[in-house]
Amino acid sequence: MSKGVIFSGMQPSGRFHLGNYMGALENWIRLQNDYDCVFSIVDLHALTSSYDDTSKLQDNIREMAIDWLSAGLDPEKNIIFVQSHVKEHAELCLLLGMNTPLSWLERVPTYKDKIVNLGSQGKDMHTYGFLGYPVLMAADIMLYHANYVPVGEDQAAHLELTREMVRRFHTLYHCNIFPEPQPVYSKAKVLPGIDGRKMSKSYGNTIPFGASPEEVTARINQMVTDKTRIRKTDPGHPDDCVVFKFQQVFNTEEAPTICERCKAGDIGCVACKKALAAKMNALLSGIHAKRQELEKRPDYIQEVLDNGAKRAQVIAAKNMAEIKKVMNVL
Ligand code: AMP
Ligand code: TRP
Repeated sequence: MSKGVIFSGMQPSGRFHLGNYMGALENWIRLQNDYDCVFSIVDLHALTSSYDDTSKLQDNIREMAIDWLSAGLDPEKNIIFVQSHVKEHAELCLLLGMNTPLSWLERVPTYKDKIVNLGSQGKDMHTYGFLGYPVLMAADIMLYHANYVPVGEDQAAHLELTREMVRRFHTLYHCNIFPEPQPVYSKAKVLPGIDGRKMSKSYGNTIPFGASPEEVTARINQMVTDKTRIRKTDPGHPDDCVVFKFQQVFNTEEAPTICERCKAGDIGCVACKKALAAKMNALLSGIHAKRQELEKRPDYIQEVLDNGAKRAQVIAAKNMAEIKKVMNVL
């Protein structure tokens, strides 16, 4: 028996990395057995910040589908589709925009941050579409009557806004058709990149998801370790070490021993990195192989996305009809 409906989405904005996997996808894969899951490649959301260069959009969508499938997201168990293929997302976004107070959108903390951040990189984010980002996200969630939304903690404010929009909709149109969606946050904290800052495409510090064992090992070897440690017998400081942070995520069994041995000057950085590479490659080499196989099957990827859109559309059309009815848009 299904425990409820799950909706989540991810922007197809370039190569997927391990941070995205630990922060979101790993959670989805765990949930897919117990819930009715709808997972969307949210290309319209990607347009809110990448409106000026859309030339990579189709490549990025295809890459994301390959990442999801190679990680183990099952198209038989879940609905996997591209947001813009189901037109009801755009339609509900428009209708919700009619009753969403401007002040609610302007006070979303990520809104002003991103205007400043991307603005300093020369991008003008003062657009109607970007302000409406959370409205589109609420439309995604409400369209499927989702009960749960697995996301990173950075999405908390957007989820809270969706819940407010649900309550407002019920009050305005005297109905009770949507569940109030609950966030499901992933266990993993923010994964650092190889330089110790948050792993992010814009910092160039990522380990790409689906990297080959050679690439993974090379990236681990580039990680900065404790600079005060000259000889292997010098006592190390695992709490300040990026490699150790990775050990805690990918090598949970050996991490406590490695911690003690590092502090005692009993294990060197080379051996420590070697142990990490072995553990990470045990996890990632299977994904890498699956990815390579899927890259050779573009027709299959297309079929998965077409099928997903068809299944999503059936639900979206039915729920949209009900929404329009209570709004007297007939
Ligand atoms: P982004 O690519 O930054 O839009 O993020 C897509 C998803 O991956 C979001 O749910 C983020 O919370 C998650 N994510 C991105 N970077 C990291 C990271 N370094 N560690 C953990 N989660 C991340
Ligand atoms: N804003 C989300 C992110 O950047 C992506 C997203 C779009 C989403 N629509 C959604 C997540 C609906 C959950 C539910 O990660």
